[in-house]
Amino acid sequence: MIKIVSDKAPTVDIHSILTTDEIAAIHEFMNHYPQSRAASLDALKIVQKRNGWVNDAQVNAIANILDVPVTDIEGVATFFNRIYRSPVGRHVILICDSVACYLTGYEALSAELKRQLGINYGQTTTDGRFTLLPICCLGNCDKGPAVLIDEDTYGPVTPDEVAQLLELYP
Ligand code: FES
Repeated sequence: MIKIVSDKAPTVDIHSILTTDEIAAIHEFMNHYPQSRAASLDALKIVQKRNGWVNDAQVNAIANILDVPVTDIEGVATFFNRIYRSPVGRHVILICDSVACYLTGYEALSAELKRQLGINYGQTTTDGRFTLLPICCLGNCDKGPAVLIDEDTYGPVTPDEVAQLLELYP
């Protein structure tokens, strides 16, 4: 067995990539944890707030601040499906495709969302308004099928309610 050792992040000028406020906020989270690496997810969330997603340069800058390999930050970003590594719409719709929601109407709801938005999973509407993605359990299994739009959770959502729901997010 070979131990895999990741390389340190190449040094970058973090001030040309992140704002002063972002850097300060990341440092504040670092101080909450015994190991800076533990602040990876918080750092990604801080940076994602600016444009709704996190680009490669920003990932590199976060790795510099936390003094961890870029692959560590990439790993956290990949694991948490609410960190986006490519541009998304103004609103991100996440529809739960786990078992309880599947049994309570996921397929019909998913089909109606795709039909009304005119997009498939992983796509963004041409007006840049919505991105649609599947997600595993949102923790609202007794209210399935459940949907998360930005920070708002809804459920149960019927296909008939989709148009009304979308109108809430101009
Ligand atoms: S299975 Fe959908 S919220 Fe848990």
